[in-house]
This record gives sequence, C-alpha cells and structure tokens, in this order.
Amino acid sequence: MRLLVVCLGNICRSPLAEGVLRQRIDQARLGHRVVVDSAGTGGWHAGEPPDRRTIANAAAHGVDIAGLRARQLRASDYRDFHWLLCADRANLDDVRGRAPGNATARSALLLEWAGLGQGAEIPDPYTGGPEAFEHVWTLVDRAARAIVAGLADRTRTIDA
Ligand code: 4NP
Repeated sequence: MRLLVVCLGNICRSPLAEGVLRQRIDQARLGHRVVVDSAGTGGWHAGEPPDRRTIANAAAHGVDIAGLRARQLRASDYRDFHWLLCADRANLDDVRGRAPGNATARSALLLEWAGLGQGAEIPDPYTGGPEAFEHVWTLVDRAARAIVAGLADRTRTIDA
C-alpha cells in the first residue's frame, strides 16, 4: 500500500506524519508492505527541510525528520499512490479539485481515514506557538498508532 500525506506547505504537518508513520511502520516490521511519502498542495517551500519548529517537536518525541525535503503534489502522485491523505479540508478540496482524468488514487482526511472522527482535521500550526505544534504532534501520533494497528491486523489476517 502506498500512502501520500498532503498538507499545504509540506514543512509542518505532512512531513511530521511521514516521519512518524514510517518509524512506527518500520518498528512493526511492516516496511515491506507500506510506502509513505508526503507533499504540499503549495510549492513555496519545495526543496526545503521541514520547519525548524516541527523538526524540534518531532525530535523531542524521538522522531528525526531533519533529512526530509518538501515537494509539491504532482499529477503522477494520483497514479503512484493508493491514498492521498490530507491534513485539513482545504487540502482535501485542493487535492480533489486538481485530480487528473486518469487518477486512480483515492483521497481522504488523514484523521478520518485513521478512524479518529468524521471531518477531523489537523489545524495548520504555521502561525501558532509551540502549543500549536504540540497539538499537531498529538493528532499525528494518534493517527499513526491507529493506522499501524490497523495495518498489523490486516497483515495478520493475510498471513493467517
Ligand atoms: P504545513 O504548514 O501545511 O503543515 O506544512 C504550513 C507551512 C507553510 C505555510 C503554511 C502552512 N506557508 O504559508 O508558507
């Protein structure tokens, strides 16, 4: 399964989700089954590392995302990934509005897809203080736990 996490800038929410998901998936020994990447609907930060506040927040929780680099969502993502998992409703509307005619990927809100509530969003922390980044961490951490638990269940079913 190929998952792409999408936010606006690809420097705060989606690289955090990418890093946390990848770490947990590797810890659960599911790395051979799941590919995770991230992108932004906007391209202003393309090529840049994550926001230093997000890098620091992730590091405080034991996740190293300093090596990630931002990129903008591209048309091929709609075929290369199974799911485009968006941080908030505006991201999801953008993703759906730009879908090329040959798109095969499905799209959803990340938190909703993780089973954490219909319409649940990860708010943009960019203009907020440290508490905004910690709130993003809490939501992403919960989503990653739920997603990896679900993947582990499915894998056990397949292996049984
Ligand atoms: P992200 O946060 O979408 O979680 O990466 C933002 C990063 C940059 C900007 C907005 C949101 N910006 O306007 O540059």
